[in-house]
Amino acid sequence: MNIVLGITGSIGAIKVPELIRALRKRGHCVQCMVTSGGKALSCVPALEALTGNKVWGPEIFSSSLAENPYAHLTLSQTTDVIGIIPATANTLARLALGMADDLLLTTVLGASCPIVIAPAMNPKMWNHPATDHHLQKIQEYGYTIIPPVYGTVACGDEGMGKMAEISDIIAFLERSATPQNFLGKKVLISFGGTQEKIDPVRFIGNGSSGKMGKALAESFWKRGAEVTLCEGIHQVSVSDTRFTIVKTPSAESLLKAFQEKAPVSDIVVFASAVADFTPSVPAQQKIKSGGHLDLTFSPTVDIAKKLAETKMDHQFFIGFSLETENAILQTEMMRKAQQKKFDIVLGNNVKNLGEDTAEYVLWDTHSTHFEEIAGAKEEIAEKVVNRTETLYFL
Ligand SMILES: Cc1cc2nc3c(=O)[nH]c(=O)nc-3n(C[C@H](O)[C@H](O)[C@H](O)COP(=O)(O)O)c2cc1C
Repeated sequence: MNIVLGITGSIGAIKVPELIRALRKRGHCVQCMVTSGGKALSCVPALEALTGNKVWGPEIFSSSLAENPYAHLTLSQTTDVIGIIPATANTLARLALGMADDLLLTTVLGASCPIVIAPAMNPKMWNHPATDHHLQKIQEYGYTIIPPVYGTVACGDEGMGKMAEISDIIAFLERSATPQNFLGKKVLISFGGTQEKIDPVRFIGNGSSGKMGKALAESFWKRGAEVTLCEGIHQVSVSDTRFTIVKTPSAESLLKAFQEKAPVSDIVVFASAVADFTPSVPAQQKIKSGGHLDLTFSPTVDIAKKLAETKMDHQFFIGFSLETENAILQTEMMRKAQQKKFDIVLGNNVKNLGEDTAEYVLWDTHSTHFEEIAGAKEEIAEKVVNRTETLYFL
């Protein structure tokens, strides 16, 4: 992607070099354009070194006018997205008014590419009705706002106004250039493993890093879906800016959450490792150490099977099947698809657990063959979401 980064006079500008490095690592080409405030708070030579491109200043009538007199119009023609990161209260006000008093604002007015804005300011400035009014206006123009987060800002005040995380900013920028084929669709995904209590401090759990569930969530979100995550125990960080997160640490809590959320979801992904058994009678007090311990287990409710009973025609289910015996994998995948009304099943391999890369077998109810897919979990998620898109919109 070709990205123009508009940097304004917020202290959040100090995070821009980190953003540029991450964007470059992901293969994007970046050009920076600074407002007068942005110029004061940035190190221009560092921005040039990191992007490999000259930094555009605030002046519309620069000394090099003869070289490119219409830069304010031509630059955006080869740009996939303009990101105003960070955006000050002042720049939000100028954007709302449609002002064109520097190169960045003039470029925005003359652009037809998406505009993505990450406000960053003191909580009092963020909560001011004027800022709120300007934000509403800006959204009416179709510009995307990356919401700031709660935290302690540079001056020491605490509240809303801190610039969003770099990972969220990148996700919003990339989404702006991705076809929004799942716009308006609700996707529900469980991920991570569950833990079943033996006593107040001990549990029995299932291994699941949550990496595959997270990758699927990212892929659906990037294509416009509204994603709710039912979060078990996992090793990844997930964005609460972009996803609605429900904590579901046990099989029982996951069942409850899915019974509430699945009926209003279009696509349901069962990516968590849910306990099949739970201690029949968890001890109320900590079990003393020493001696021998016998536990009896009862089966948990099979959540996917239960939801299959009320699956609606417009709904699409994606499930996983993990076997330690390869010989029975395909039979099990088909059995689960039928029993749990999965539209897509991913045959999982125990070697995949916790890894960044994986090998899966992909099968859907329209397929005549089992496809072996391998690669980074993000690449696998893209393939699964591609397949979902093809089948869901058949
Ligand atoms: C050290 C410093 C940090 C600032 N940080 C912010 C900020 O985070 N957000 C904001 O809206 N304004 C901030 N300001 C005020 C803006 O720089 C000021 O409103 C300026 O006019 C913004 O111009 P611009 O929007 O054209 O960049 C800061 C000012 C200073 C001196």
